[in-house]
Amino acid sequence: MADYVIAIDQGTTSSRAIIFDKKGSIVSTGQLEHEQILPKPGWVEHDANEIWRNVQEVVGQALSRATLTRHDIAAVGITNQRETAVVWDKNTGQPVYNAIVWQDTRTQDIVDRLAADGGVERFKQIVGLPLATYFSGTKIAWILENVPGAREKAEAGDLLFGTTDCWVLWNLTGGTDGGVHATDVTNASRTLFMDLETLQWRDDILEVFGVPRSMLPEIKSSSEVYGTVHGSSLLRETPVAGILGDQQAATFGQAAFTPGESKNTYGTGCFLIFNTGEEIVHSKNGLLTTLGYKLGDQPAHYALEGSIAVTGSLIQWLRDQLGIIGSAPEVEALAKSVDDNGGVYFVPAFSGLFAPYWRADARGAIVGMTRYVNKGHIARAALEATAFQTREVLDAVNADSGVNLAELKVDGGMTANSELMQFQADILGVDVVRPVVAETTALGAAYAAGLAVGFWSGLDDLSANWQEDARWTPQLDEAERDRQLRLWKKAVTKSMEWVDD
Ligand code: G3P
Repeated sequence: MADYVIAIDQGTTSSRAIIFDKKGSIVSTGQLEHEQILPKPGWVEHDANEIWRNVQEVVGQALSRATLTRHDIAAVGITNQRETAVVWDKNTGQPVYNAIVWQDTRTQDIVDRLAADGGVERFKQIVGLPLATYFSGTKIAWILENVPGAREKAEAGDLLFGTTDCWVLWNLTGGTDGGVHATDVTNASRTLFMDLETLQWRDDILEVFGVPRSMLPEIKSSSEVYGTVHGSSLLRETPVAGILGDQQAATFGQAAFTPGESKNTYGTGCFLIFNTGEEIVHSKNGLLTTLGYKLGDQPAHYALEGSIAVTGSLIQWLRDQLGIIGSAPEVEALAKSVDDNGGVYFVPAFSGLFAPYWRADARGAIVGMTRYVNKGHIARAALEATAFQTREVLDAVNADSGVNLAELKVDGGMTANSELMQFQADILGVDVVRPVVAETTALGAAYAAGLAVGFWSGLDDLSANWQEDARWTPQLDEAERDRQLRLWKKAVTKSMEWVDD
């Protein structure tokens, strides 16, 4: 009897495999970080082969830590960093270039070129997204334009594109030996190529980008059997039955199924998703329109999204580039070593600024420095940046929806930092609530897979699993909150003025 579902979470900094039971509780976990390849300012790459090796290894770790075998696993779900583009040769299975990561800004010239005819919003009504370096379509175009031989091979039908869900699915189901080349609607909605209404690729947009349709995966729902695991893998013959981009997976794992519900996930970046149900809502305030989920043949659910590029990765930067902490969790103690931010505001516009500004040319700025400032203040300002950016996104959601959110469901690694969550509630002025299972990203993918094979019978089963673990209530007085927000916004203007022209 298969009592468990396994989720593969192929994230920006690591790949994980998490096994869940029927209650949605974690049974075991495997995790491996992969290298962040930073060849030039603004460039961020991953080795797709390393990612695939790590995925196989973490699945093994999770199974062996729980002393389970494939016979105990009802289905595999996949969730992933979303816009990261892999292009590979379907005959050899080898990537033609490193995966270009969602944070990478090298495609700005392509964006400018395409925007010259109709502006950055020229496709927004169809695909829900502005032209921006963030989305995978610009990255495919870059590979075809810059990797020797790639265009010819693509036109001959030899190259495949996929975000990392698709790369993992293709390899899991056999690779060059008949691997399934498919993705789900949520990942497809991040390419710039998918029509939000028909849920199909748009040939006219592909033509503008110069991307042959033969490279693109088939777009499927988020919950159905795509294929079974191939060959000698530890999970062989297990159905792969769920795919959701990581932010949509977290929303699903939070059981935010009802229009008007939302969640904010604190990972490498921060992503606030607001469920708009079966309605496609176009933002007037810098949010993206995106797919929420689609279960088999049922209608698609849509969402508004506020994407923030740099939150957790700023803590990594303090560790790896600045060296003021030895490990990410140390940031909490360092930030607590001072009473306040000492007047310092840190705008981490390392990949430009995403929502609600969409300014690719913005650059990181630390402002308010005096000789009094020490590394504790820098650490504190780095953490506070997460809360301020989330506040700006929440303001945009409130403005677009016309309703003020009464509380915010949160999840992800940084929600373990209680000080930060209190500050988040203070700056938002609403309660911040964390569920018992804060690994909602993997849980959402497990849910999608489990629903497809009948492991869970419906959404009510999943809602019943959601339980509150912690709640933070605002304590800061309003005048002080407004003062800090005003200074933050001033700091943001500095990051946007810093343009190398
Ligand atoms: O859009 C990028 C997002 O999917 C990456 O998420 O959790 O790897 O920071 P994460």
